Amino acid sequence: MIDRDRIRQLLAERREGFSLPQAFYVDPAMHETDIKAVFETDWLFACNACEIRKPGDYLTLAIGENPVVILRDRDGQVRAFHNSCRHRGSRICGHEKGRANRLVCPYHQWVYELDGSLINARQMPADFDRSEHGLKPVHVEVICGMVYICLADDPPDLTRFREAVTPYIAPHMPERTKVAFEMTLIEDANWKLVIENNRECYHCAGNHPELLVTLVEFALPNDPRGPAEFKALMDRKTAKWDALGLPHQPADGGEEFRCIRLPFHEGAVSFTMDGGPACRKLLADFTEPDLGSVRMFRVPNNWNHFLADHIIHFRVLPLSQDKTAVRTTWLVHEDAVEGVDYDIDRLTEVWIATNAQDAELAAVNHAGIRSMGYQPGPYAPSEFMLTNFTNWYAGKMAAYAGSPTPIRLAAE
Ligand code: FES
Ligand SMILES: [Fe+2]
Repeated sequence: MIDRDRIRQLLAERREGFSLPQAFYVDPAMHETDIKAVFETDWLFACNACEIRKPGDYLTLAIGENPVVILRDRDGQVRAFHNSCRHRGSRICGHEKGRANRLVCPYHQWVYELDGSLINARQMPADFDRSEHGLKPVHVEVICGMVYICLADDPPDLTRFREAVTPYIAPHMPERTKVAFEMTLIEDANWKLVIENNRECYHCAGNHPELLVTLVEFALPNDPRGPAEFKALMDRKTAKWDALGLPHQPADGGEEFRCIRLPFHEGAVSFTMDGGPACRKLLADFTEPDLGSVRMFRVPNNWNHFLADHIIHFRVLPLSQDKTAVRTTWLVHEDAVEGVDYDIDRLTEVWIATNAQDAELAAVNHAGIRSMGYQPGPYAPSEFMLTNFTNWYAGKMAAYAGSPTPIRLAAE
């Protein structure tokens, strides 16, 4: 763990608009600080509610040293608990996902109901109070099918985020989807480099040939780098989306989140190698396959694409200072049939290739930052979302370190 004085010192060295001081990325002791300052205080994307569709379906994950189980209870509610037995603390659910009628600790078989209450503790004395030993709850919010959890006692307010993104995402009806494919990559990079890499497409032209078959690399409708053809494309597509009542203008998420609908290249409708649909059965009741992509992210650990025919969620969890788990899930309409409506390879090939390229870029970035020659470098104008991210991160660290306000020095 890095002590608070050292954090304050590193924040004082930081320059806004520049990559962070080296220790934030590579010091092994910073991992625990990041977990405490960021991952134990904020809402984290966990999964889609369709992954725990039926009562007893559960999914597990770990936030630093905190194993968590997320499940669907008998009333259909999504709940989350610390996955730690109230007897002597054993982890209860060991599988990444599954279905259970009740949760039974493997150690001495204490039995918990799906609402977390302890219903059986064999051989305990008659005066043992089971009601005092239920599983400890973790805060849960489900927003347009996306399950967010928060370990903090007093979680931040998600109202602004919920209200801003719902009009963009709800029409795609994520609650009527299923997971077609999932994969987890363990990247050899600090989690902040994984996020930074996601927040810019400055690197796309040199690294993502598959993605750029369809993806337009400009991040704003009025991107100053955008040629006249991009502006004409935006005008054509937004007229169509306006007619369909689908929002597209950037939402005002500040440093916390971003939500915008952007077009694919003319003639392309999905992330495929020919630009055609990846799933014939469109989401919701859409009949128009060309809805571009709602690009939504929220700090600290998630980004997503919502298309007419599928949804992709990305979830980032730090494992150590130089190891990060990136889980990608591809969701299609719940009634879509594999082999008939969609083919897994066609659905996934662009982002499997892109994820591998991004993993390599993040690893190489991390390796270079280890150098004694590393010095924080300036973000390009198109990397404005990295400035937002590092400002947000510095704010979290300042709050943790007890600084009244984030310490920033103006960029030169
Ligand atoms: S630690 Fe779970 S039953 Fe003993
Ligand atoms: Fe990338």
